Amino acid sequence: MTTKRIAGLREKLQELGVDAILVTHAVNRRYISGFTGSSGVLLVTQSDSWLLTDFRYMTQAPQQAVDFTVVEHAARWIDTVKELAASAGVKKLAFEQEQVVFSEYTAWTAALGDGIQLVPVSSVIEGLRMFKDEAELAIMRDACKLADDTFQHMLGFIKPGLREREVALEMEIFMRSKGAASSSFDTIVASGERSALPHGVASERVIGNNEYVKLDFGAYYNGYCSDLTRTIVVGQPTDRHREIYEIVLEAQLAAIAAIKPGMTGKEADAIARDIITRHGYGDRFGHGTGHGLGMEIHEAPRLSVTGTTVLEPGMTVTVEPGIYIPGFGGVRIEDDIVITASGNSLLTSSPKTLFILE
Ligand code: GLY
Repeated sequence: MTTKRIAGLREKLQELGVDAILVTHAVNRRYISGFTGSSGVLLVTQSDSWLLTDFRYMTQAPQQAVDFTVVEHAARWIDTVKELAASAGVKKLAFEQEQVVFSEYTAWTAALGDGIQLVPVSSVIEGLRMFKDEAELAIMRDACKLADDTFQHMLGFIKPGLREREVALEMEIFMRSKGAASSSFDTIVASGERSALPHGVASERVIGNNEYVKLDFGAYYNGYCSDLTRTIVVGQPTDRHREIYEIVLEAQLAAIAAIKPGMTGKEADAIARDIITRHGYGDRFGHGTGHGLGMEIHEAPRLSVTGTTVLEPGMTVTVEPGIYIPGFGGVRIEDDIVITASGNSLLTSSPKTLFILE
């Protein structure tokens, strides 16, 4: 699995005109090497692939990073990087510029000396990660099924009088009990007026009657994230509750029906946004229609007003339009999809009728 990824990385190094890359982002390190430990860096040239880690991982790392030569690094790992890079004749060494703070950069520059030039690069491995292979999609389907099962479970749990935090705890316990390592981000449970907060992480608020409860959550499973939002009503919905829900649902269904390869993120975003705007709520939909997801909860590409990436098969994105009305409440409906050769396919499958829990 990692052999193909290393080959893809080497092609990128050639395009960039560099001799090697230093991988310091933990998620990218795992993607390229398979190593799940908490500490280590990769040094990849056209002919060598090294994983530098410390004493704690000298048994685990060779078992996981089968395509890498595992080296126990010196007290300062950058000194080992210098030694290996110099032995391989590396002159231009790419590094992931978003993953380093200035003090580290200056320390690296000093340690590497004049012979090795650091070259800042962006989104090299993230570009590879945008395209999920079948093995990754299988894991993501499992992560999404876990989220779907959690929503189903919560329909039998949520009732007036519970605190949002109690609801979030139950969701997290359920996901963990079914195999998730953790939730894929801080669970959002936003009820009543708080449902107008797009990212209303669960609070001490007690869920009342005749109000929305927005649940936005996901499972972090086997290294991959799912992300699901459903909004329900506890008690009896008013006409306004139903109206807002129906508009968001119309926008979400239309986007899912239309998203296909060849479209830009901006064009995908416009499908949902135009519907919400036509109904008079354009200014109450203040975030993008979706984002890529995979090993991280937010990845490329973005489905937003600035999304220039052209969608291609294998990309996995969320589709999550919403309407938020301060003082009243808000609705978001979100699914995860994979772009296919002819359109897209749903990864999540929870029902989207308006659930009314009494
Ligand atoms: N669904 C949570 C987020 O996108 O941040």
